Amino acid sequence: MTFPTHRPRRLRRSEALRGFVRETNLTRSGLVYPMFVSPGTSVREEVSSMPGVFQQSVDRIVEECYEVADLGIPAVILFGLPERKDETGSEAAAADGAVQRAIEAIRHAKLNLLVITDVCLCEYTSHGHCGVVDGEIVLNDPSLELLANAALSHARAGADIVAPSDMMDGRVAAIRAKLDEHKFHDVAILSYAAKYCSAFYGPFREAAQSAPQFGDRRSYQMDPANAREALREVNLDLEEGADMIMVKPALSYLDVIHRVREEFDVPLAAYNVSGEYAMVKAAARNGWIDEKRAALEILTSIQRAGASIILTYHAKDAARWLKNG
Ligand code: PBG
Repeated sequence: MTFPTHRPRRLRRSEALRGFVRETNLTRSGLVYPMFVSPGTSVREEVSSMPGVFQQSVDRIVEECYEVADLGIPAVILFGLPERKDETGSEAAAADGAVQRAIEAIRHAKLNLLVITDVCLCEYTSHGHCGVVDGEIVLNDPSLELLANAALSHARAGADIVAPSDMMDGRVAAIRAKLDEHKFHDVAILSYAAKYCSAFYGPFREAAQSAPQFGDRRSYQMDPANAREALREVNLDLEEGADMIMVKPALSYLDVIHRVREEFDVPLAAYNVSGEYAMVKAAARNGWIDEKRAALEILTSIQRAGASIILTYHAKDAARWLKNG
């Protein structure tokens, strides 16, 4: 007989009690704000499917970084839009590329902000795939050197952390070797270790102009049906030298986040991706959902599942909401 002795509602009676027994306290300390860097100056264009998110030139990026740092968000992750795309995505490693210049400018501003860069080719290739192609096949090994060169160019510009998102096999080892060879031993690698082939990247591909021009990404990104395979991917990336790992997307993969957390004792990130953000924004605009409550519930659930680092387009709003209690 448990009732009436046991009454769990006793601890839900007031906010003081609820706060006192709360298991997960969402904080700003693990938030990462994603940003899209365009060529040119004074560019600031809103992404139509992601209200509040902009493609911006370096000058505007730096302005927003002041705001991001002011809000107590510890890190940004940068995605680049090239001037020109080609077969091998050569602008990904250009010393004067938009991302590389943005890193330097943020460094120059001396903000209290970690700079993470996404390392991938899909924004830079004419075919929109994350590696080089032969006909319709995405080649693994020839892509590694290109990815490593992109990471090196980010490190040279001053990135704190590079984050490969391409899902080629062996890229963490290739990037680690390249960075070490050039004495960037202290640049950390946050590997998108378990990245699924997801419909929830749709709005991002508009923001980053990176939709594949033929086929899809199923031959390199993971099958959404697999969770045990994620543990293997994580294990391989850690063996190759990843310092931190990521599960992406977040919401349909909370079980994967949880399993990775249970199995591995390294900093774990989750990416609350563009489609997840767009759904909340669209429903809120229609008055169908309370944006603040929904976004905070989502972020709390990602942290509760086990991710201590959360990449999210809600970061600025969340930081404001958390500041005001
Ligand atoms: C690049 C990359 C993608 C995202 C992050 N890095 C898109 C993709 O793989 O198609 C998605 C981020 C988001 O949807 O917010 N490979």
